Amino acid sequence: MVKNITVLKGDGIGPEIVTQAIKVLDVVCEKYSHKFNYTEVDIGGCSIDKYGVPITEEGMAKCKAADSVLLGAVGGPKWDNVAPSVRPEKALLAVRSELGLFANLRPTKLFSQLADASPLKPSIVGNGIDLMIVRELTGGIYFGKRRTETVDGEKVATDEMTYSEHEIERIGRVAFESARKRGGRVASVDKANVLDSSRLWRAVMHKLAEEYSDVEYSDILVDNTAMQLIKNPSQFDVIVTENMFGDILSDEASMLTGSIGMMPSASLSEGTLGMYEPIHGSAPDIAGMDIANPIGTIMSAAMMLRYSFDMAEEADAIERAVNKALDDGYRTADIYKDGFKKVGCSEMGTIIASNI
Ligand code: IPM
Ligand code: MG
Repeated sequence: MVKNITVLKGDGIGPEIVTQAIKVLDVVCEKYSHKFNYTEVDIGGCSIDKYGVPITEEGMAKCKAADSVLLGAVGGPKWDNVAPSVRPEKALLAVRSELGLFANLRPTKLFSQLADASPLKPSIVGNGIDLMIVRELTGGIYFGKRRTETVDGEKVATDEMTYSEHEIERIGRVAFESARKRGGRVASVDKANVLDSSRLWRAVMHKLAEEYSDVEYSDILVDNTAMQLIKNPSQFDVIVTENMFGDILSDEASMLTGSIGMMPSASLSEGTLGMYEPIHGSAPDIAGMDIANPIGTIMSAAMMLRYSFDMAEEADAIERAVNKALDDGYRTADIYKDGFKKVGCSEMGTIIASNI
């Protein structure tokens, strides 16, 4: 198969980690007789420096025209004080919105090889952590109206959080379908004791739960979810929630595995176009030092094969190659401890590629 991939390396460690994912994809192409064409587009701070905007219109058009988009990370302290309208993050939100990437899948799994990297006690993680956060990605407070105005002599700022029935229903369906392929359970997270948008969310989820009666359904308030993730994370299978709750809970959940550098994500549209990226940031403090962990990006590439290209066998091959690298004792600095083999970003990429 021939596929066109738009590559957004971005800022900080973005270029290093994406290079490793492409190294692995190239071996997949060889082994399974595919051809992937890569088109690089600047995004984030590097684009602001070159063009004055975090992504150009041509760049956006190349994302839309691709079969899928692979992203490293954007942002860094250098661009922390640029105008809000051109912040690096703005480009990421624009790509999500313009490509219609409403469903963000964040699988959070404790690699058995790294069980002791979790900050939770063994008695708590003993049952394993394997959950899927399904985050709504193109609605809610991220995309509501914003304004700062002066009222009675002081500044007042407003961010609106809006959800419509169809937005809730389509993300709900992604969650229920995903649960059918996994553990068969959906927990819908909201703040229905306070927010109207959450009350609508819950009502729509309840209708879906009737339709998907084979899936075990529960509602849970977001504050309680934050607590339950620490208290008993293995109770969860699929968690579905709105944009900002999902942003916060997915960071919390990833930390339970002790290794945010390992976690991939997929942002899916109603068609096959998707964007794939590790959930960690651009880590400017270690950029260019060849010590970043490329596994989150490599696992994101595996999700790209699985979800956008329907190449399950190839995706499995990448996941096995990552597990073999860990089984063989290779560790980047973030997951290293005594008795293991410390490798850099590029070497980890080479090892995983050679395991394919
Ligand atoms: C994420 C990030 C982004 C978000 C930022 C960079 C805008 O935190 O993908 O979780 O808030 O969605
Ligand atoms: Mg986040």
